[in-house]
Amino acid sequence: MTHTNSEILELFEGALAQMQTPEEPELLYAPIIYSMSGGGKRLRPVLLLITTEAFGGDIEEAMPAALAVEIFHNFTLLHDDIMDNADVRRGKPSVFAKWGGNVALLSGDAMLITAYKHLARVSPEVLPRVMTIFSDMALEVCEGQQYDMDFETMEGVLVEDYMQMIERKTSALLSGSAMIGATMAGASTNDIRKIYRFATELGIAFQLQDDVLDSYGDEALGKKIGGDILEGKQTFLMVQAMSRADEREREVLRNTHRDSKLSNEEKIARVKALYDKLDVRRLAEQQIELRFERALSALAELSIEKSRTANLQEFARNLMGRKK
Ligand code: IPE
Ligand code: IPE
Ligand code: MG
Ligand code: MG
Ligand code: MG
Repeated sequence: MTHTNSEILELFEGALAQMQTPEEPELLYAPIIYSMSGGGKRLRPVLLLITTEAFGGDIEEAMPAALAVEIFHNFTLLHDDIMDNADVRRGKPSVFAKWGGNVALLSGDAMLITAYKHLARVSPEVLPRVMTIFSDMALEVCEGQQYDMDFETMEGVLVEDYMQMIERKTSALLSGSAMIGATMAGASTNDIRKIYRFATELGIAFQLQDDVLDSYGDEALGKKIGGDILEGKQTFLMVQAMSRADEREREVLRNTHRDSKLSNEEKIARVKALYDKLDVRRLAEQQIELRFERALSALAELSIEKSRTANLQEFARNLMGRKK
């Protein structure tokens, strides 16, 4: 019997609710509980489980791996908010803002270790392969995060550089999740390669959307608008704006975030006015559409029956409509 995507989400939430976290030391474990129950969309574990089922595997068997990717994801967010100096996560104070950087660091470390503890529970026949995919993906996320940091202080970041950076910091975790799901179900190497392409393209579209939402999203849905602008991030919008701007506009794009005479609101408004003038939001939306189409065509090439890819298609479609 196969499940709908919302049933899969429910099964995953059930497994997560059963996870035991110690109470003490409180400043190690309370932030973990706060993060894990803080309203995440659970995209990576759901993608992993949908993929498992699409290839005829068993959801319950894949559950430890699904827990591992979600805990790993939340770990990256704890550290990401330190690195991005971000006070808000999912409409609430980030762990970094609430408890400080030291707590976010160590609770994050404990989550990374916990992720591996769950991963170690997958069946011994697939464990070595799953472990390799997981560790490769985790290292790629670190590489992407370092490029993201490097770019904050770098001149002349190209669109290609940016694309390679997000393929690591964001796509790797989605493609790793999908590949683990496929591996758990015994999919062929060829199909695993295609599912990797599907999730990679989807991940790129997802991060482009994330960049757009950071400047144009709805605060009521939990994103703090303008964080990337204030932090001087090289987002898709910024990289494209820099390449289209004239010299005077480039100066504004480069320096507004560190202009101490301006309020945060003025900084955000000034940069967004240039984004609008240079029409970069439209470029992002075109690129999102293109990547989404590529993701769907990778799905169409899988060797499994078309009907078996319906949940993956729906997952992709829902992701494209996201507002938070
Ligand atoms: C946030 O990911 C980090 C990015 C890769 C943009 P999500 O938007 O999936 O985070 P949650 O878990 O649903 O909050
Ligand atoms: C997300 O990048 C990548 C990781 C967390 C690994 P962002 O820094 O853009 O994510 P948000 O916007 O803080 O969720
Ligand atoms: Mg970041
Ligand atoms: Mg961030
Ligand atoms: Mg972001």
